Amino acid sequence: MSFFDYRDGVLCAEGISLPTIADAVGTPVHVYSASALRQAADAFTSALRDLPSARFAFAVKANPNGAVLRLLAQHGYGADIVSGGELCRALDAGIAPADVVFSGVGKTDREMTDALEVGIGQFNLELEEEGHVLAQFARGRNMRAPAVLRVNPDVDCGTHAKITTGKRTSKFGVDIAGAPDMYDRLARLDGLDLQGIALHIGSQISDLGPLEAAYRRIGALVDELRARGHTITRVDLGGGLGIAYRPEDTMPSLADYASMVLRVTRDWNVSVTFEPGRIITGLAGVLLTRVIWVKPGATHPFVIVDAAMNDLARPALYDAYHRFSAVRPNGRTMVANSAGPVCETGDMFGVDRSIDHVDRGDLAVFHATGAYGAAMASSYNSRPISPQVMVDGDAFVLVGDRIMASDLPARSERSAWIAGRALDASLTQAA
Ligand code: LLP
Repeated sequence: MSFFDYRDGVLCAEGISLPTIADAVGTPVHVYSASALRQAADAFTSALRDLPSARFAFAVKANPNGAVLRLLAQHGYGADIVSGGELCRALDAGIAPADVVFSGVGKTDREMTDALEVGIGQFNLELEEEGHVLAQFARGRNMRAPAVLRVNPDVDCGTHAKITTGKRTSKFGVDIAGAPDMYDRLARLDGLDLQGIALHIGSQISDLGPLEAAYRRIGALVDELRARGHTITRVDLGGGLGIAYRPEDTMPSLADYASMVLRVTRDWNVSVTFEPGRIITGLAGVLLTRVIWVKPGATHPFVIVDAAMNDLARPALYDAYHRFSAVRPNGRTMVANSAGPVCETGDMFGVDRSIDHVDRGDLAVFHATGAYGAAMASSYNSRPISPQVMVDGDAFVLVGDRIMASDLPARSERSAWIAGRALDASLTQAA
C-alpha cells in the first residue's frame, strides 16, 4: 500500500493534499509519511522476529531527521552512526547510547572518545590501528570499549560501483583472510571488549545471492575464531537491501531475506545486528517541487523544477532513477528532460523520459526520496537547504526548517570582507 496516492485527482501524503503543504511551507520540500515509516520499520523487525536476540540499528546516514529517528526509536530501532554529528542526532532523538553502533572508516580521536564517554554499545573497527588507539582511550578511562571487527568479505554485491563496499579493493573493513590473526591480536588488548564480527557489502542490493555468500563467509570466520578460543557473541550483518525505484524493479521480499538469514545463521548462536537504512525510509518520502519553466530543447523540452541536485543528489551522483509524477495529472504525458536550476549539466533528474504532462507553475514530485534525499542535501549554488514535513494521518508538521544561504556563512566570513575592510593580518591568522 502506498501512503502517497491520488484523491479526487490530487496527489496526497496520507490525508493531506500536497498543494496544502506547498501553500503552507513552499517548495521544494521533502515530505515524509509517518505511517509509511511505521509500516516499513515494523515490516523489517517482524520479518526477523524468529531470530533470537536480533538488534536493529537504523543507518542514520539514510535519514538523520530528528522526527524520523524518534519515530524509529519508538519502533525498536537503535542507530548505526558514522560521525559525531550522527551520534548527537541519535541521542537527541532519545536513542539509548547502548543501542548505538559506530561504523566508519575514519573515526577521529574526538569522535571515539565522545562515543566512549557516552557509553555507546558497539564500535565497528575498520582497521587494526583503530582498535589499538580505541583500547588506549578506553584504558585511560578505566573502560573497555565494546567492539566488533568489520571484515571485507570480497563479495561484489552487484550494485552501483559508488555504493559497493564489500570488494577487496574498497576502503571498508579488513581483509577477511588476515582477520583471524588480527582478531587474536586485538582480543588481547585490555581496553577492548571484542565481541564479534561486522560486515556491510553495499547498498541498493537487489539480489540475495551475494548477501548470502558474504554471510556464509562470516559464518566460517566465526567458526574459525571460536576454534581459536574466542567467545563470539555478536555478528553485525550491516544493511543494504534495495527498494523498487522504478515500477518494473523487482526486489527480494523481506520474507525471502529473513528466511535466508535464518537459514544461514541457524547455528551461529550469536546476537545478530542489522543496520538497515534505505529499506526503512526510502519509500516513505517524496520531494515536492514546482515547475519553474518548460523550456524548449533541441530534442525534448526541459522541465525545469525548483528542486535541484542540492536537494536530491542521487541522480547526479549515481544516475539514479526517481519517478516523476504531477500532483494534479491532466491525463496527458510528454517526453521531456527534467532538470533543476543548478549550474551543472549533471543537474538532471531524468533524460528523454515519458512523464506526466506539466506546465509552468504546476506541482510535481520525485518519488522514493526518503533515504539519501534530504540527508545528502547541500547549499550548492547558495541555494537553501529545503524544509522537511512529516504527515501523520490528517495532520502535518514542519520537522526540518528551510535554511537559507544567508544563515550559513561562518562568523569569520562575516568579518572584514563583509564590512568592506581590507584583508588584514588578524583575519589571515584566524583562517
Ligand atoms: N551500514 C553501513 C556500514 C553502511 O555503510 C550503510 C550505507 C548502511 C548500513 C545502510 O545501507 P542501506 O540499508 O541504506 O543500503 N548515498 C547512497 C547510499 C550510500 C550508502 C552508504 N552506506 C545512495 O543514495 O544510494
